[in-house]
Amino acid sequence: MQHFTGAGVNRVVDLCAAPGSWSQVLSRTLRGSAEDPSSVKIVAVDLQAMAPLPGVTQLQGDITKTSTAEAIISHFQGDKAQLVVCDGAPDG
Ligand SMILES: C[S@@+](CC[C@H](N)C(=O)[O-])C[C@H]1O[C@@H](n2cnc3c(N)ncnc32)[C@H](O)[C@@H]1O
Repeated sequence: MQHFTGAGVNRVVDLCAAPGSWSQVLSRTLRGSAEDPSSVKIVAVDLQAMAPLPGVTQLQGDITKTSTAEAIISHFQGDKAQLVVCDGAPDG
């Protein structure tokens, strides 16, 4: 089994991200291994708000909506995400 270092990964989407455990791991791992931590862009999407995290942009929205997908894509200025994490579960 290989250990994920995140080397070279700097465009990431974390779907269903609140309260933010995976976003925190991604932020620490990817920014920690990057030559330039500011080059790492992580977009965290959830219906619920999250506490701020370094290098993580939060989008409060529904992942099933086209408008949410468009907002994610515009954050990467047209480039594709290199990693998508999804931890969705229904509320309640
Ligand atoms: C298991 S929790 C996620 C835990 C999170 N990944 C973490 O690492 O802390 C599931 C999340 O899915 C979100 N969720 C469920 N349906 C959603 C939808 N249609 N759009 C966005 N988020 C959704 C809920 O708001 C909830 O925060």
